[in-house]
Amino acid sequence: MKTSSELSGPAFDLKGFFNERHALIDGALDRLLPGESVDPVSVHTAIRWSVFAGGKRFRPILLLTTGEAFGAHPEKLLATACALEMIHTYSLIHDDLPSMDDDELRRGRPTCHIRFNEATAILAGDALQTLAFQTIAEESSLSTEKRVLLVSELCRAAGTPLGMVAGQAHDLEAESRAVTTGELEQIHRLKTAALIIAAARCGAIIAGATDPELEAVSRYAAQLGLLFQITDDLLDITATVEALGKTPGKDARAQKATYPSLYGIEAAHQRADLVHQEACAVLEQIDTPTERLRAIADYILKRDA
Ligand code: IPE
Ligand code: IPE
Ligand code: MG
Ligand code: MG
Ligand code: MG
Repeated sequence: MKTSSELSGPAFDLKGFFNERHALIDGALDRLLPGESVDPVSVHTAIRWSVFAGGKRFRPILLLTTGEAFGAHPEKLLATACALEMIHTYSLIHDDLPSMDDDELRRGRPTCHIRFNEATAILAGDALQTLAFQTIAEESSLSTEKRVLLVSELCRAAGTPLGMVAGQAHDLEAESRAVTTGELEQIHRLKTAALIIAAARCGAIIAGATDPELEAVSRYAAQLGLLFQITDDLLDITATVEALGKTPGKDARAQKATYPSLYGIEAAHQRADLVHQEACAVLEQIDTPTERLRAIADYILKRDA
């Protein structure tokens, strides 16, 4: 039985843990990102508009949680966690562009290109991406070898042919055409799970996890990432604009390939249950305290935003 001396009482307070880590990440992001008064003011104002609009910080929290489970101190994990959130926020800014999903609301605010303009939104995304890699490359609390490993992980996960950019390309190509369930799963694994796998792996790498441990972490996070996009697809149908902070119903209008559109809502929920069970089953094979990682999987299955 895996236990942790840090965890006491019958139920782990995930919400309290999330709030505490969220504040830690936001403080570090504020230190790492250029101030709004730094030239070019337009780009830095747009970056801060999108980053501090109030995202869940799920990926950096997963990085911290995984790293801590393998014994790393949060301070060693924080810069890489912030880098991941920079890449994620860049992906959202570009995902919302008129040429992509054409969305006007994100994190409860007008999207970056609506609030500023398209060129500024493109540049804010570009800048966030390079700032992410700069942040890791210059993180002096990590060895040079680890920095190179982390940059390589993130490049693979964020880019192409097996990362988020590849998934976004397939997602757009799949609009208005029939896709198989296999193709749908591949789109979700690339556009969303790849960065979520990288979050967990980067935490474990910083903590010095062994190769078999890293492999198990990858299998857990692969299912967690797929689960994350299945629930995102379901929320697009079932959640309110207030809860989501983005406009629901957009997937059907854009004829996106989603789990509910291919399987139906009921079967999409069943698929989510199964993928959640598979993520939790992997945790049983990890010989380190995994209660928090389990609580994160439970939260993603049940989330309402
Ligand atoms: C939205 O991600 C994009 C997807 C991959 C589904 P999140 O749901 O994590 O968005 P924020 O960061 O909380 O705004
Ligand atoms: C986005 O998937 C995945 C990204 C890489 C940003 P979605 O297009 O479904 O994300 P939302 O619903 O706009 O947040
Ligand atoms: Mg999209
Ligand atoms: Mg979108
Ligand atoms: Mg979506």
